Amino acid sequence: MTTEHVLDRYADVDAALRNPDLVPLPATGAPRPATAEWLRATVARFSSGPAHTRRRALVEGDLARLDPARLRAAAARATATPGQDERAVVVGVLAAGLGVEDPEGAAQAVLAIAPAYFGGADATAVADGDAATAWLLPRMGTADDEEAANRIGLLVQACDATATLIAHARRHPSAPAGTPTVEAVLEETLRREPPVLAMRRQAARDTRIGELAVAAGDFVLLDVAAATRDPEALARPADHPPLTFGVAPRRCPGAAHALAIAAGVLEEEQAPEDAPVTDGRDPAEVVTGMVAHVLDVAATWTAWDGEPVPSEDRVYTPHKAIRRVADHLLDHLAELEARLAGEEPEPDHWHASATTTPADLAPFTDQDLDEARSRLVRLSRMWSQRLGALTPEQLDRSPGRGWTFRQLAFHLKGSTYYADAVGRLPKGEAR
Ligand code: HEM
Repeated sequence: MTTEHVLDRYADVDAALRNPDLVPLPATGAPRPATAEWLRATVARFSSGPAHTRRRALVEGDLARLDPARLRAAAARATATPGQDERAVVVGVLAAGLGVEDPEGAAQAVLAIAPAYFGGADATAVADGDAATAWLLPRMGTADDEEAANRIGLLVQACDATATLIAHARRHPSAPAGTPTVEAVLEETLRREPPVLAMRRQAARDTRIGELAVAAGDFVLLDVAAATRDPEALARPADHPPLTFGVAPRRCPGAAHALAIAAGVLEEEQAPEDAPVTDGRDPAEVVTGMVAHVLDVAATWTAWDGEPVPSEDRVYTPHKAIRRVADHLLDHLAELEARLAGEEPEPDHWHASATTTPADLAPFTDQDLDEARSRLVRLSRMWSQRLGALTPEQLDRSPGRGWTFRQLAFHLKGSTYYADAVGRLPKGEAR
């Protein structure tokens, strides 16, 4: 008679995961080719020994082609519409990244395989899984069945666990104090409410886990969730990383990819709805282009007749337009520098366009135009030098709260509004 041992202490679960005599439950019998059970028999996840090493290398080769930063951006773009299965977003992003034919169709097929993949499914789920495996196999972009199976395996492994991580993270919006990043929320979620709760192993031969003797054929249930919350593990978290992704040599090879996709989806949800639209242009050129336009229009303002120009519910004058453009550049530069320094930006006390000061109403002379040129050109150079020194990572995954630095630069483009509110004055002579 076989026994099932249940382990829930961190040290025991960790030891069991590292024990090569305890193997994942292998596929049964000699399954028909291109069925869900054949898939189980062919993927790294349920293999051991040299077959595991070879198949894991296939998976790692595929994962090396997937840049987590790109996955994150793709996941942010592809966030689920209401009613759509979020698992399909996860699989679709990975399938597209791997160059799989028809990524959306592939995602639906993977959802149909998932229930049969971990074993113990009913006849209907197995039949659905078989049909989906047969459909998906020729669409994996390789004639090598083992390579194709492991590509499907990668997609199935990613499917439920990543979607569950996203769902759990939504319930844990707060992170440890001082680190309100998506990464911190995910880290906390992995520890407090992990997406994978348990794993099963079977003893390939007689073995031991600490004091516990395990006979060949015995089953072992590893309560990963309980182990991760073990008081000893919580007391010294640095020495007890969450076991949610398993441990070497079988540690989940897609952990970074899972976190990137989850971060992309969550970040998109948290992004303010009015976030500026960006495109492929160099953000520094967007800022300098805005200033060039403002100065081009301002060159006609020496002919201003002293009448404030109405625009929407405000009025503008040449001095006011220059003030707003300069202050807008300065305001967001101060925000960017504070966030880079890990500090909170100054609170917003600007009166901005709501107020028209006596100085705004002053005539706009040749000397004022010269001063405006020097001021705005210097500010735009500070922006382009600062943006040019940032990495793409800093531009798109910027520290601190608020828009990304790329979005900030594109937002500044809107400062042309102040100049255009005054407009080109017909009698003005551009100098
Ligand atoms: C939050 C999401 C995920 C969690 C919690 C997770 C967790 C795990 C766990 C616990 C294992 C089994 C380790 C063992 O048997 O000891 C595993 C294996 C695996 N995971 Fe993940 N996984 C996640 C997402 C992903 C993603 C996104 C991918 C692919 C892009 C992936 C690919 C794999 C593969 C291929 C294996 C089999 C590795 C082997 O047996 O050597 N997983 N994962």
